[in-house]
Amino acid sequence: MEKINAVITGVGGYVPDYILTNQELSTMVDTTDEWIMTRIGIKERRILKGEGLGASYMGTKAVKELLQKTGVKPSEIEAVICATSTSDHVFPATAALIAENSGIKNAFGYDVQAACAGFLVAMYTAANYIESGRHKKVIVVAAEKMSAMVDYTDRATCPLFGDGAAAVLVESTTENLGMLDALLHTDGSGACHLQLPAGGSVFPASHETVDKRMHYIYQEGQAVFKNAVRDMSDVSEEIMKRNNLTENDLAWFIPHQANLRIIDAVANRMNVSKDKVKINIEKYGNTSACTLPICLWEMDNDKQLKKGDNLILSTFGAGFTWGAMYLKWGYDSK
Ligand code: UT7
Repeated sequence: MEKINAVITGVGGYVPDYILTNQELSTMVDTTDEWIMTRIGIKERRILKGEGLGASYMGTKAVKELLQKTGVKPSEIEAVICATSTSDHVFPATAALIAENSGIKNAFGYDVQAACAGFLVAMYTAANYIESGRHKKVIVVAAEKMSAMVDYTDRATCPLFGDGAAAVLVESTTENLGMLDALLHTDGSGACHLQLPAGGSVFPASHETVDKRMHYIYQEGQAVFKNAVRDMSDVSEEIMKRNNLTENDLAWFIPHQANLRIIDAVANRMNVSKDKVKINIEKYGNTSACTLPICLWEMDNDKQLKKGDNLILSTFGAGFTWGAMYLKWGYDSK
């Protein structure tokens, strides 16, 4: 029997209209555009405004654009996997809400919570459903309303994050295209360095958790930074090596967009030239699970992706959870 590969056949996306600039942030906390640009590399980020709107609102917009672009009917979708750590509610899954609001009635759906690494974990899961031969059309959607968890009085974290969503359709092919390899890791000893302390089962919401500001992102920036550079470089190098890829074979290196200095350090360690590194952090900041599919969405819209292009995607986030994926792109973007 021919080997079935899982290939991305379309990308949709959505970012909210509201642009939070460094200038506006500097009226909220003691910071400057210069500090944020030199230490992080972010100029602005998108923020979802509006009462009662959460991650599913943006995820639904991304999925609807994906269905419209690919011409696939909602009834053909068999599974919706949503990567998010800012789900609308603790339960039900945001995937269920996105499916409902996108008219997807014949699918099962659930959320993957792997923080910033969520898209690669969800994509790997979807690819395995396809490769098994059991499913033909799976949507992976990443949707994050990071602004709901950011403390806009904390200058160490509030410049970093933004909101957004992006979705990919994953289908089967017998061509040598699509997800050709993936390497994922988790090291829970890193949990203490990056977390949202309250709102889960250890510290359910109480007056105390609110008073202690425990419902906001807690991050020890330097510990995360060091691990991100080392682990993203190592895992990306390893996946290239075991697939006999050199820098010359790569069309694009697409890294998680958390800090421009992390991206530069990883690209340097890997010896990948800057013109092959996808960077859009200046516009959107860190949208957690959405950074990689938003990159793909932009590149698809800008017609930068060609059938057969070798892409390495690399990510790192809370957990710690990190990994890399080797994709051979499936179509000429149009
Ligand atoms: O996606 C999940 C993964 N997350 C990441 O990858 C984030 C990784 N970490 C980082 O990107 C960086 O550690 C940060 C951007 C969070 C912080 O940058 P840093 O270069 O590690 O700065 P720092 O925390 O060591 O702070 C240096 C100084 C401090 O002042 P003192 O103590 O030296 O006087 C901070 O108080 O910069 C100060 N500072 C700021 N100054 C102006 C921290 N935040 C700001 C700010 N504006 N927004």
